[in-house]
Amino acid sequence: MSTRLAALLKNASDSAKGSHVIRAVDVKKVYKMGDSETHALRGVTLDVRRGEYLSIMGPSGSGKSTFFNMIGGLDKPTAGKVYIDQVDIAQLDPYELAWLRCRKVGYIFQMFNLIQVMSCIENVMLPMSFAGKDSEEARDRALEILEMVGLRERALHKPGEMSGGQQQRVAIARALAVQPSILLLDEPFSALDKNLRLDMQIEVKRIQRTAGTTTILVTHDQEEALSMADRVAVLSKGKLEQFAPPTEIYDAPGSLFVNTFVGAANVLSGTVAGTDAGGNWVRLPSGETLRARQPHPAIAEGTRVSICLRPEHLDVATTGNDGIAGIVEMGLPLGASIVHEVRIADGTAIKIATPRSPGIVPLAPGTAVRVSSTVPATIFPQN
Ligand SMILES: Nc1ncnc2c1ncn2[C@@H]1O[C@H](COP(=O)(O)OP(=O)(O)OP(=O)(O)O)[C@@H](O)[C@H]1O
Ligand SMILES: [Mg+2]
Repeated sequence: MSTRLAALLKNASDSAKGSHVIRAVDVKKVYKMGDSETHALRGVTLDVRRGEYLSIMGPSGSGKSTFFNMIGGLDKPTAGKVYIDQVDIAQLDPYELAWLRCRKVGYIFQMFNLIQVMSCIENVMLPMSFAGKDSEEARDRALEILEMVGLRERALHKPGEMSGGQQQRVAIARALAVQPSILLLDEPFSALDKNLRLDMQIEVKRIQRTAGTTTILVTHDQEEALSMADRVAVLSKGKLEQFAPPTEIYDAPGSLFVNTFVGAANVLSGTVAGTDAGGNWVRLPSGETLRARQPHPAIAEGTRVSICLRPEHLDVATTGNDGIAGIVEMGLPLGASIVHEVRIADGTAIKIATPRSPGIVPLAPGTAVRVSSTVPATIFPQN
C-alpha cells in the first residue's frame, strides 16, 4: 500500500465520523454517447452505516447499477463525492483505488462477470491472489466456500459448463472468499430458483450478522428488499425517492411513486375536504368522504390529491351506507385471501384483498357493495 493511501486510511479511521462506511454526496452521473446524454443519477445523497444491510430498489433504468458502480469505486461520478471508509475516492489514483477495492469490497454483479477460461476454483481464488494471500491457503478457502454454495464437486469446471444459477453461486463464492468488510450485490439471486434463492439470501444475511459485513443489495424483488434490509433506498429516474427502514417505506411512503411501486395501491382522485385532530378528510368526485393521514407538510383544504389505498386495507360489505359505493366486477379466491375488483362511480376499478376462511366464496359479479378502509388513506398533492 502506498504511504499516501495508508495516511488517508489512518486519518479516516481516526475521524469522528467512523460509523459511515460509505457516503454518497449529491452524486450525479451523465453518460455521453455522441450528441446524446443520459442523466443516470441526478444528485443522490445517502450514507451507509457500518454493518448495515441496505437494499437499493427501483424500476429498470432508474440508475441502480450506476449507483452500485459509484459506491463500489468502480466508476467515478460526473459530479458529487463518494467516500469509501471516509476516503474520497476521487483523490485516489487507479492503483490505490484497486488496492482499496481488493481488500475492502466483495462484488457480485448482475452479469456474474466470471472469467470463462478459468475453472470455478480459479475464479474464486482470484480476488485472494490479488489481495496477496498464499496460494495454498487461497485454495483451501476457495474449496471451503465452494462447499458452502454446494459446488465443491464442480471446482474444476469452467463457467461455460455450468447453468446460470451455478455460475451465480460461483460469483457469490468469489465475492465472499476475501471476507470483505463491504459486500455489494447487484441482483445476485435473479438466476436462482426459489429454494436456492432463499438459502443464498439466508447465507448472505448470516454473514452480514455474524461478520458485521456492510451489505448493499440491488434488487427488483420487493419481498427481498423489504425482508432483508435494515434500510431501503428507492430510486426513480436517477433520484432518491425515499431512504428509510422497510416498514416505514411500506407504511408511510414518501411519494406517490413509492406508494405504487412498493406493494400494491389503488389510486383515486379527490380533494382535501377538511382537517381535524385525527388527520384529513378527503372527498371523492361522487361526494363520498374518506379519512386520510395528515401528510408532512400539511395539504391545504381544497387541494386536489391522489388518494392511495392498499388492497389489504380495504373491506367490502353488502349492507350499510358507509364507505364508497360500487359494483363487483370480479372476485378471485386466492387460497388464503379473496381479491374483489369493484367499479366505483368515477369509473375507477378498486382491488380489495380480504382474508378468506374455509367455505367463503367471492361475491358474484354485479353485487352492489360498499368499500371502506380499515386505515386512513395516504394522500399526495396533484400537480
Ligand atoms: N455505460 C453506459 N453508457 C450509456 N448509458 C448507460 C450506461 N450504463 C447505463 N446507462 C443508462 O443509464 C440509465 C441507468 O442505467 P442502470 O444500468 O443504472 O439502471 P438499473 O436501474 O440498474 O436498471 P436494471 O434494473 O435494468 O438493471 C439507463 O437509462 C441506462 O440506459
Ligand atoms: Mg442494473
